[in-house]
Amino acid sequence: MPAKRRLILITGASGAIGGALADAYAEPGVELILQGRDPIALKMAAHRCTLRGAQVTLSRLDLAQPGALTSWLDSMVDEQLPNLVILAAGINLNTRAAEGEDPEPSQHLLALNLLTPIRIAQALAPRMKARGSGHLVFISSLAGWYGLPVTPSYSASKAGIKAYGEALRGWLAPHGVGVSVVMPGYVKSPMADGMLGPKPWVWSPQRAARVIRQGIQCNKARISFPFPLNLGSWCLAVMPAALSQRVVSWLGYGVKP
Ligand SMILES: NC(=O)c1ccc[n+]([C@@H]2O[C@H](COP(=O)([O-])OP(=O)(O)OC[C@H]3O[C@@H](n4cnc5c(N)ncnc54)[C@H](OP(=O)(O)O)[C@@H]3O)[C@@H](O)[C@H]2O)c1
Repeated sequence: MPAKRRLILITGASGAIGGALADAYAEPGVELILQGRDPIALKMAAHRCTLRGAQVTLSRLDLAQPGALTSWLDSMVDEQLPNLVILAAGINLNTRAAEGEDPEPSQHLLALNLLTPIRIAQALAPRMKARGSGHLVFISSLAGWYGLPVTPSYSASKAGIKAYGEALRGWLAPHGVGVSVVMPGYVKSPMADGMLGPKPWVWSPQRAARVIRQGIQCNKARISFPFPLNLGSWCLAVMPAALSQRVVSWLGYGVKP
């Protein structure tokens, strides 16, 4: 009897981190469901993964469209429940303007970065729990430790998804289902290129994907990197808020009046 395929869903697979994760998992015996919107980037990812021996299905959809998201999830649950789900799709929004962020892009960001991964988890987690196996991975950010003035909604979305993943882990752990929260620092990508403020210790997407894969394999609750930036960001979260705000502004992440 042929060995059972391992089914892995990666959202944002047309992007830098999601694409590198697809490469990292592509091997014989693996079936990848790669989600994104950009058809060319998706096809390129599929080509690379197929060459490595994986079977690939492409899901091209806008995750911020609730109707499309629901139909997609329904069909996935009916057909085959993935063994591993990595939720990497996301966007950023910067502001240097004294007026702050516009409401519409901010709502869109929160829908995509926070509500969409929660919606996906709500569809898949109960089935994984009933089956007694599976792993959900949420991509947060070191910006989830302490809110940056140049990117308030993004920081909020990443702090929110961090808390959600931590909570879900506690619920699912006794039922054989793993949950990991990934908190990357700067990783070279179109999104990182557009971020404001200094970008120390930029990692390649390949290096990030290697570390994420290792962490998932060990069912780590939190996979955060690089070490110095993680430590510094964590310190911002635990030191008095007034001091953290001064440090953040001094480091160049403040909004000029
Ligand atoms: N790069 C960093 O420094 C960094 C640091 C911390 C956390 N992160 C997080 O890591 C994740 C991946 O980021 P990245 O750096 O790889 O960014 P990226 O290269 O810009 O990729 C973003 C991905 O999200 C997808 N996406 C965006 N809007 C979408 C929508 N409405 N519906 C469906 N898919 C959508 C994009 O698909 P299309 O391109 O096909 O539209 C793309 O695949 C994000 O959650 C990000 O917040 C990144």
